[in-house]
Amino acid sequence: MRPPAESLPHFLRPFAGEATTPPPIWLMRQAGRYLPEYRSVREKAGSFLTLCYTPELASEVTLQPIRRYGFDAAILFADILVVPDALGQTVAFVEGEGPRLEPIRADAELARLNVSATRSKYERVFETVARVRQELSRDVALIGFCGAPWTVATYMVGGQGSADQAAARAWAYRDPRGFQRLIDLLVETSAYYLGGQVKAGAQALQIFDSWAGSLPDDEFQRWVIAPTKLLVDRVKAQHPTIPIIGFPRGAGSRAADYVKQTGVDGVGCDTAMPLSVMAGPLADATVVQGNLDPLLLVAGGEAMERRVAAILAAVTGKRFIFNLGHGIVPQTPPEHVARLVELVRKT
Ligand code: CP3
Repeated sequence: MRPPAESLPHFLRPFAGEATTPPPIWLMRQAGRYLPEYRSVREKAGSFLTLCYTPELASEVTLQPIRRYGFDAAILFADILVVPDALGQTVAFVEGEGPRLEPIRADAELARLNVSATRSKYERVFETVARVRQELSRDVALIGFCGAPWTVATYMVGGQGSADQAAARAWAYRDPRGFQRLIDLLVETSAYYLGGQVKAGAQALQIFDSWAGSLPDDEFQRWVIAPTKLLVDRVKAQHPTIPIIGFPRGAGSRAADYVKQTGVDGVGCDTAMPLSVMAGPLADATVVQGNLDPLLLVAGGEAMERRVAAILAAVTGKRFIFNLGHGIVPQTPPEHVARLVELVRKT
């Protein structure tokens, strides 16, 4: 049983069935390069992964956007590619270019990954969670996260970000059993990783499936829905009341199926999800989160104000969490974020 809604932080109320006005707000990538205070800690850390694995620094950057804007939730500072790194794959973040991994394309390379090797690196992330929870006020919730098996696999197989995830899709077609082994490994290690975050103090979880949209129906069922359901089941077996938000970016009309079949407690809607769907059938089925275009947050002004009003009007009376449709981009003016929080809280 979850405690009654009144004793919960604002962020968790929609999961207890409450349609709050104003809705809770947090933003994907709320810690990051658009903030001068982040850039300063990032420089001190040297490499991006060092920042992720140093609890003093990672907890500091997790808290920076909470201090500046008073969001209803903090999200653990780490990256979805911590998991392949902890498994023993070579992962680097190249300045201005994004992640580079030594690609895994076949069984022989898969065999080198080691689930038991992850513990010491995961422990450092769990320590960050514990530190943040200790420093955060009781009315701000802490969100833990991981990448969904499919999305993490696209980076592990492709070796870098790509527009079409061709390398992973090709392996999945060529050798579905081999690819299944990679997905199974990711389900197993991600369940452990999320469970550890909950034990350390995370009060909700988000599963980022940023490339869910690149698959046709049958493959979406096999590589997005099925592994996510397994992951949710595994985490819920240990932590039955932890709210889990799925973010199947690009799922479009398949989002309703995703919600029904995976057992998530909420769905993150991307920028392209029509308000009529987010506030209609999806909101009737689950907690919905979204979906302001991150580029409107860059633009600010009238255009942003109008769209924020339209989103808020559409979700009135629904269990809703305000967010962007994808992460904050580095060129976002910090004062536009302050204005957004003010607009959402004015309702
Ligand atoms: O949201 C937060 O504030 C928490 C931290 C967080 C980061 N990445 C920090 C980060 C979270 C939740 C992520 C998720 C993530 N990482 C996703 C899923 C969400 C999405 O954006 O689709 C993906 C696909 C990644 C992989 C990744 N990490 C890429 C492709 C890149 C390079 C692109 C870029 O913006 O540089 C990263 C790097 C990264 N992760 C940065 C941050 C703050 C910037 C790196 C830096 O500061 O040097």
